[in-house]
Amino acid sequence: MCGIIGYVGKQDAVPIIVDGLKKLEYRGYDSSGIAVHGKDGISVVKQKGRLSALEEQLAKTPLEGSLGIGHTRWATHGEPSDINSHPHIGSQSKIAIVHNGIIENYKQLKNYLEKRGVVFASQTDSEVIAQLAEYYYSGDAIETVIKMTSRLEGSYALGIMCLDDPGTLIATRKDNPLIVGVSDGGHFIASDVPAILKHTNTVHYLEDNEIAVLKAGSVEFFNADKEPLQKTPETITWNPDSAEKGGYPHFMLKEIMEQPKVLRDTLHSAIHSGGNKDVINDLDIARFNKIVITACGSAYNAGVVGKYVFERLCRFPAIEVELASEFRYKDAVIDEKTLVILISQSGETADTIAALREAKAKGAVTLSIVNVVGSTIAKEADCCLFTAAGPEIAVATTKAFSAQLMILYVLAIWFGAKLGKISAEAEQMLFWELENIPSYVEEILAQVDSIQKYAAEYVSCKNTFFIGRNIDYAIALEGSLKLKEISYVHSEAYAGGELKHGPISLVEENTLIVAISNCKSLYGKIMSNVEQVVSRGARVLLIGNCPDAAEDEKLSHISIPGSIDLFSPSVTVAALQLFSYYVAANKGLDIDKPRNLAKSVTVE
Ligand code: G6P
Repeated sequence: MCGIIGYVGKQDAVPIIVDGLKKLEYRGYDSSGIAVHGKDGISVVKQKGRLSALEEQLAKTPLEGSLGIGHTRWATHGEPSDINSHPHIGSQSKIAIVHNGIIENYKQLKNYLEKRGVVFASQTDSEVIAQLAEYYYSGDAIETVIKMTSRLEGSYALGIMCLDDPGTLIATRKDNPLIVGVSDGGHFIASDVPAILKHTNTVHYLEDNEIAVLKAGSVEFFNADKEPLQKTPETITWNPDSAEKGGYPHFMLKEIMEQPKVLRDTLHSAIHSGGNKDVINDLDIARFNKIVITACGSAYNAGVVGKYVFERLCRFPAIEVELASEFRYKDAVIDEKTLVILISQSGETADTIAALREAKAKGAVTLSIVNVVGSTIAKEADCCLFTAAGPEIAVATTKAFSAQLMILYVLAIWFGAKLGKISAEAEQMLFWELENIPSYVEEILAQVDSIQKYAAEYVSCKNTFFIGRNIDYAIALEGSLKLKEISYVHSEAYAGGELKHGPISLVEENTLIVAISNCKSLYGKIMSNVEQVVSRGARVLLIGNCPDAAEDEKLSHISIPGSIDLFSPSVTVAALQLFSYYVAANKGLDIDKPRNLAKSVTVE
């Protein structure tokens, strides 16, 4: 949550920072701001609202300088307002900061400083950082940062500029991501790679409590004792074009359409990259008596699909799926005989990081499935499998979710084979079907016009229930989440058999039921559910492998190709994503940045 970018070099900082903020807007978008160190000292322009409001303000009040910091905010402490926007500057205008995270002891620090005459301008926790830094400022910026951060409790990624040091940008972090990009044209800090990808693909991942000191011609790193550190840069393989819309009206649509390639890339890297295979070969699956999959949001839904797949292919006795926000506080019964699988696109979700640390503290072996190389969850887990989704910009995940499913399938097949639960022949057949998934998804994407038509037909429905049984229920959860996230339609997912235990009382004229049916043996059961809701006035969109659906005029139908129901979620989800996308598009909503949501949830 919240995006940070900073630049120091020879070029004009503002266009670089504004462009970077556009790439980071998915992290928060209720206000934004820029501070530049120019010939008149530090100047700040900040504005409530979308980045376009900041751009308008910058047109009226231009900033000039080749050192600057920028921020896009997702409010936690203090309402979205001009004054609460970042950057924050100390009352003597000596130090400006941008902050991502939460300072938990900000009230105590604010009291401490107010008693000493410091006057605060905002209601944020972040301003305390600028004021505290100014209070401690000794003329030595690194020492000031060390002293100031030693008083902070909570999490932070910080970009800092000092009035006395017009050529220096300082960065540090604790429990929030921050990268340092290096290039001939200048040096950068950023919350995430897409913000600087068009300038450089050479980055250093800052670790907790490390301090980076960036100047136009140098980048140095120090530890919390001010001792110099040698860090090795990493090369990002993502294509800079992947962080652009490429002609699509929204990143979400572009990312939905990229899925066949992402699925192929992820399958290919999972099977053929030595790294991934080594991870699995080193993991003696037979030593575990329990698997816990834990994650948040859509990644959790991927975990629910994973549970069904693991149960079927590995016949593992105990497989649990837990929301990371619950797992971290439940004093889970796990030990060194438990494998905890953490799923996260960003690798920075605060609850998932906490779940990972809890699992490790209890001695469990941790395996993460992560999209962002160099992220906290990728680094801290005992082993990691990467999804090859590339940068995902739309807040509502699509391609990263699909890539997570692919990794879970591969894992389940490998584990099943290792445990002797599936034969070599079955293993080969399952991998063959995985190879087919991208082309099945292509078939769905080719039906975009009819899905768009259904979305237009059902856009007036105010309540939606997604129902399915078995693996179809698992993917119903994701379909329902997608619809409510981006279209603001009230939506819930239920196992088909549960309809009669409550939700059916809400079914009336114009309720939409999205019924998912890929499990052949359960087709009749789902169709009974469909009969029950149709007779109460509901409208039905049937998605799946449904032999006689085309003849039924009461039903709209999207046919799902594929021969193994266990893998159908990967195909079905493409239809569900397109449906949600077009419902939101019909309502004229800001699809890539749905209200109140952020992509990378780095606070609790
Ligand atoms: C947010 C995003 C979701 C995502 C969830 C978990 O809620 O909007 O799309 O599924 O965070 O994020 P992660 O990065 O851990 O997968």
